Amino acid sequence: MKHILITGGCGFVGSHLAVDLAARGYRVTVLDNLSRPGSEILLKKRILPHGIRFVRGDVRDPEDLAGLKSTFSLMIECSAEPSVLAGTRGKDARHLLDVNLQGAINCFEWARERRVPVIFLSTSRVYPYDRLNACRYRETPARFELRKGCAGVSMRGVSVEMSLQGTRSLYGASKLCGELILREYAAQYDLPAIINRCGVIAGPWQLGKIDQGVFTFWLSRHYFKKPLKYIGFGGTGKQVRDLLHVQDLAALVAKQVGGLLADKPVFRGEIFNAGGSTGVNLSLRETTAICAELTGNSLKIGSVKENRPADVIWYVTDNGRTEKFFEWKPQRLARNILEDTFQWLKDNEADFKKLFV
Ligand SMILES: NC(=O)c1ccc[n+]([C@@H]2O[C@H](COP(=O)([O-])OP(=O)(O)OC[C@H]3O[C@@H](n4cnc5c(N)ncnc54)[C@H](O)[C@@H]3O)[C@@H](O)[C@H]2O)c1
Repeated sequence: MKHILITGGCGFVGSHLAVDLAARGYRVTVLDNLSRPGSEILLKKRILPHGIRFVRGDVRDPEDLAGLKSTFSLMIECSAEPSVLAGTRGKDARHLLDVNLQGAINCFEWARERRVPVIFLSTSRVYPYDRLNACRYRETPARFELRKGCAGVSMRGVSVEMSLQGTRSLYGASKLCGELILREYAAQYDLPAIINRCGVIAGPWQLGKIDQGVFTFWLSRHYFKKPLKYIGFGGTGKQVRDLLHVQDLAALVAKQVGGLLADKPVFRGEIFNAGGSTGVNLSLRETTAICAELTGNSLKIGSVKENRPADVIWYVTDNGRTEKFFEWKPQRLARNILEDTFQWLKDNEADFKKLFV
C-alpha cells in the first residue's frame, strides 16, 4: 500500500487531505507540532478515528523528519504559519520565516534524500497585492468588479502567468521562496513535484480567525453574535475573494497524487492555481447576507476605511491550466460552502466555541 506523509496534517487542509486519501485506500501518516490552536481537537476528532498515524514533530527540526521510520511514497507539505498579518505592523517575522521557509526546505531535503515526490501547498498570496490593487475596478452596490485587467489578470481571474514583480506580504514571500526552492530541487535533483497556489479555502473544520480563514471567521461571528467590521477599501465590505470548498481541493490533490505515483511521473515543479474561480466568489457584504440568513442573526457591522497591511481589493482565481491538466473544476457553490460550514459549527459547537469566541 502506498504510504503518504502529510506535514501539518492536523491543520484544516492537511487533516481533510489525510481523511480523504485514507478513504481512497492510501496509508497516511501526519506529522504536526500541534502549534495551531485547535489542531489537537482535529487530531482527536478527525485523524485518529480514521486510523491515520500521528507523529508529533516539527518541520523546523530535520531530526523529527529523519525520525520517521517507515518508507513513504509521497509527501504533501501543508505545515505553515498561514497568517498574512504575521510579520506586519513591526512585528518579528522570524517565526513565520522559520516555519514556512526553513521548515519547507527541511521537508524538501527529506524528500530529496528518499526520492519521494512532493506536493507543496502554496498560496495566491504570492501574487503581489500592489499589482492586483492597481487593476481597474468598478463599484456596484454589493461588490467591486474587475473592469480592466492587467498582465495575467483577466475577466477569468488571476492566472499563473501574472507578473510576480511587487510586494506580497512576508507570508506570501515565504511561500514564494518555498516554491522557487522546490522548483530547483525538481530541476537539479529530478525530483517529481507539484505546487498548488491556493486561493481562500473554506469548509467544515476550519478554525477561522481574523487573519486567516475569513469565510469561517465571518460565519462564526454571526453564529456567536460577536462584533464584526468591514476593514479597508472604504470600509463598505465590497472586496471580493473566491472560495474553494476543501473537499474540492481534496479531489484535485487526489488526482495529483495519482499522477505523482504513476510509473514515470512527468511533473517537475509545475505550478497550478486552485481556487473557487469566477463561479464561486463573494464580497464581504454578500457573505454577510448569507451568514445572517443561515444563522438567523443580523449583526450591525462596523466600518474601518483604512486598509490593513497587504489587503487585496479583489482576488478571483483563473484555474484554466489546472482544469485542463487534471480535468477538474470546483463543484461546490459559495452558498453550499457556507451551509456545510454552518452545519458543522452547529454539530460541533461545544468543541469549538472557545476557539471562536
Ligand atoms: N486555508 C487557506 O485558505 C489556505 C489558502 C492558501 C494556502 N494555504 C496553505 O495551505 C497549507 C495549510 O493551511 P491550513 O489552512 O490548513 O493551515 P492550518 O494552520 O490549519 O494548518 C497548518 C498546520 O501546520 C501545523 N504546523 C505549524 N507549524 C508547524 C511546524 N513547525 N511543524 C509541524 N507542524 C506545524 C499547525 O499545527 C497546523 O496543524 C499552508 O501551507 C497554507 O499556506 C491555505
